[in-house]
Amino acid sequence: MKNVKIAPSILAADFSQLGEDIQKVAEAGADLIHFDIMDGHFVPNLTMGVDLVKAVRRYTDLPFDVHLMVTDPQDYIQSFVDVGADLITIHAEIVTAPISAVIGKIKSLNILVGLATRPQTPISVINPYLPDLDLVLPMSVEPGFGGQKFMLDTLEKISYIDKKIKEIGKSIDLEVDGGINEKTAPLVIERGATILVAGTAVFKQSNYADAMSHLRH
Ligand code: DX5
Ligand code: ZN
Repeated sequence: MKNVKIAPSILAADFSQLGEDIQKVAEAGADLIHFDIMDGHFVPNLTMGVDLVKAVRRYTDLPFDVHLMVTDPQDYIQSFVDVGADLITIHAEIVTAPISAVIGKIKSLNILVGLATRPQTPISVINPYLPDLDLVLPMSVEPGFGGQKFMLDTLEKISYIDKKIKEIGKSIDLEVDGGINEKTAPLVIERGATILVAGTAVFKQSNYADAMSHLRH
């Protein structure tokens, strides 16, 4: 069984010393760094932007996994790529640009592309885009805040998408984001998750290496 990857979400890190926290979690064994970008419109929270990603790029060579919870992701793709994003995930619920066009734009810049869904969005909306994706992100909490409780009805969505990915036979990552901890991690891994986003379960723990190994096993 291939090892699941851990993408700590810096939403839960110490914003007064993000560079050091990122360096520490990278040295402790993180596989990617997850940035929860929120614009206060798509979700009722305003968190971080391009300049923050730029400021911390030099602290690790790990892939930067940028999760755009924003109304107009098409307006920011180039800027995030310019500052070092390796993977950009947009939401299937956006309405101000055709999703296929935004996916095309991200791919044209030679970085990886993901498509995310909010909990109340039917996971089947992903289907037409699946062949073009590198990652699918069925969110297991209502986007906007860290530290929320994992929504158990996400489990059937993970199984559904895992089956679809196997049907098309392309290696597409299945990333789960929200309320991932020692209890919920095994539930999503056994259903096909390949990347676990974890904010609270990593950055609110004293030992990052232990925290991440508990999620993996
Ligand atoms: C929600 C955020 C959170 C964050 C992880 O919009 O995307 O899911 O990444 O938060 P925790 O791991 O603290 O639930
Ligand atoms: Zn996220």
